[in-house]
Amino acid sequence: MTDINQLTLEEKASLTSGGSFWATTAIERADVPAITVVDGPHGVRKPRGQGDHLGLTGSVPATCFPPAVALGSSWDAELAERVGRALGMEAALHDVAVLLGPGINIKRSPLCGRNFEYFSEDPIVSGVMGTAIVRGLQSQGVGASLKHFAANNQETDRLRVSSDVDPRPLREIYLRAFERVVKDAQPWTVMAAYNAINGTFCSQNHWLLTEVLRGEWGFKGLVVSDWGAVNDRVAGVAAGMDLEMPASGGRTNAQIVQAVRDGSLHEAALDAVAQRVLDLVRKAGERPRQTGPLDADAHHALAREAAGRSMVLLKNDGGLLPLAKDARIAVIGEFARTPRYQGGGSSQVNPTRVDCALDAIRAASDREVVFAPGFAFEGSSDEAGLREEAVAAAAAAEVAVVFLGVPLSEESEGFDRTSLDLPPVQNKLLDAVLAANPRTVVVLSNGGVVTLPFAEDAPAILEGWLLGQAGGPATADVLFGAVNPSGRLAETIPLRLEDAPSHGNFPGELRHVRYGEGVLVGYRGYDAANREVAYPFGHGLSYTAFAYGEPTATVQDDGDTLVTVPVTNTGDVAGREVVQVYTSLDSSVVQRAPRELKGFALLDLAPGETAAAEIVLRRSELAYWDVRVDGWVLESGEYLVEAGASSRDIRSSTTVRIEGHPVELPISMDSGVDEVLAHPVAGPLLLDALVEHGLAVDPQALRVLGMFPIGRVDGFPLPYEKALNIIEKVTS
Ligand code: GLC
Repeated sequence: MTDINQLTLEEKASLTSGGSFWATTAIERADVPAITVVDGPHGVRKPRGQGDHLGLTGSVPATCFPPAVALGSSWDAELAERVGRALGMEAALHDVAVLLGPGINIKRSPLCGRNFEYFSEDPIVSGVMGTAIVRGLQSQGVGASLKHFAANNQETDRLRVSSDVDPRPLREIYLRAFERVVKDAQPWTVMAAYNAINGTFCSQNHWLLTEVLRGEWGFKGLVVSDWGAVNDRVAGVAAGMDLEMPASGGRTNAQIVQAVRDGSLHEAALDAVAQRVLDLVRKAGERPRQTGPLDADAHHALAREAAGRSMVLLKNDGGLLPLAKDARIAVIGEFARTPRYQGGGSSQVNPTRVDCALDAIRAASDREVVFAPGFAFEGSSDEAGLREEAVAAAAAAEVAVVFLGVPLSEESEGFDRTSLDLPPVQNKLLDAVLAANPRTVVVLSNGGVVTLPFAEDAPAILEGWLLGQAGGPATADVLFGAVNPSGRLAETIPLRLEDAPSHGNFPGELRHVRYGEGVLVGYRGYDAANREVAYPFGHGLSYTAFAYGEPTATVQDDGDTLVTVPVTNTGDVAGREVVQVYTSLDSSVVQRAPRELKGFALLDLAPGETAAAEIVLRRSELAYWDVRVDGWVLESGEYLVEAGASSRDIRSSTTVRIEGHPVELPISMDSGVDEVLAHPVAGPLLLDALVEHGLAVDPQALRVLGMFPIGRVDGFPLPYEKALNIIEKVTS
């Protein structure tokens, strides 16, 4: 393939936008082939024809794995990496060079229509799971496209809205997962999001794409725009946005050529961008050919394993679950027969097969299983009749299993939800069934969390999210105990929408959305407000139980902290515990959530078995972003380290002394008295001067005087000249 220097200006410009909806531009003369890029995060969506980016047209059959909302609830990086490998293999079979995923945006509001495509409200879970998918995918010679970079946390007005977010939450919450994946897995591409950040579109944001992504994080790959995300192509080239998708039909290429010619764009900037396109094309050409054939059954089995690991057992009073195979069961709810197994939009996969829960339950049961739809997705003129039929079935059964969920029409890429409630017809059905038979299990199918008004009344609730094509059998596996559920909530389920920390600032207005909750996103916000929730972040039950011993926390030579947590399976079936480690620092100079997840580990334990979970807390992830120095600061102090089965089920704790690095603030006459007193040289000088001028240096006085800029305490009690003298001694 040619070298950049052999290309004409026009040819270089042509490389910077797609040659078609799903391919780069080929340059026959220079032996530069086109490469194919297609969605999506949980399955290959290679359009049969021209296709679209909204999932409106058909695509080739492919395995539909559980979307991120489910896979993220497994907290299982090893599993996610295997799913990534399978995705890469299927993509390679279709000669796809880059698969457009994973999506790792933070679930800032439970209303976001695309939450089904994202992992968590927490950056550590999102970063760990995103890294795993990227590693798995790229192990097969297929590139990932880490998306949507960045702060793309809603669908409302997504192509025009500015995410107005302060530096700390931007760095500590919305960029942190991207930083982790880029540094740990080097995705071949990163996808620039539709939205702007603080007024500058991501697709032309030099600070985001060049200074942070490449300069700070060492990203070596290519930045591709989201489809239609380019606003000013020339500004995009200057910002380091390499590939505009889809094709612009040559219109923006001509703009680039003109800009170079008239001197408003350095040709070197174009060369850098075009070179990265060539590098990607070259890398794609080096992949060994996948000969196949696709083992569709094996991938279906993996999809079933992943789905089983993703389900979250929220409640199981009286051990109603697992079900006995000879139990007389009534299955109720159209979702059991017609599963919702993925979300709407560009990620939509044409599955190789779909198995429903009803068939799987019937196959697993030793008895006849009665079914009643209970409601119709599109509504029914005989709603009462459907309900009566379901109630009769429940009354005649030992156990009723009711499948409820969010209809596809209410959540999808492209728009946000306006409510967290299930359709009234479903809540009405469940109330009637519970009245007829209290031994009722609720199974949920939803891409975003829903309110659970029945949480007190239903003895068992299984959060099934959207589970992919094998979700039906996986549900039966969990219901009958063939799989012991180990999913944990990667996002909080609130009691009501108004409790969400982002409520009131979502989805914004007039092309601006203010991230007013700051760093207090998700559980961080609920905990800071000490607000009750339906089920907390990290929550999930098992068919067994686990006891925690005392943790240890030891700072390692590399500065990271190793935490060990002994855990015992105290029940009588094997099970998996997701051991979570949260930290906090009471003495912090900045606002922090009561506790923040900083690591986790999975333990598979036989009955009675004890093992120690080992979790590494990265030194870099304990730091906060200090706007005074525009950089990370790790505070020294006694950090509280809590081991928990959820963010609100802390089992044991310890502390660890961590030596950070002091903030090197520039000292000047604008520095506060407190800042000058903290300075190693100026501090003692100032203290002496204050005493000399009769100030009783007591905590009360310093509490008042501390915030005064030293240049404005003139006369009470320090003369300006004296203060200036101290500052000059330090700064000269
Ligand atoms: C869509 C999505 C993005 C997808 C792309 C191509 O609008 O935002 O996730 O990869 O366009 O379909």
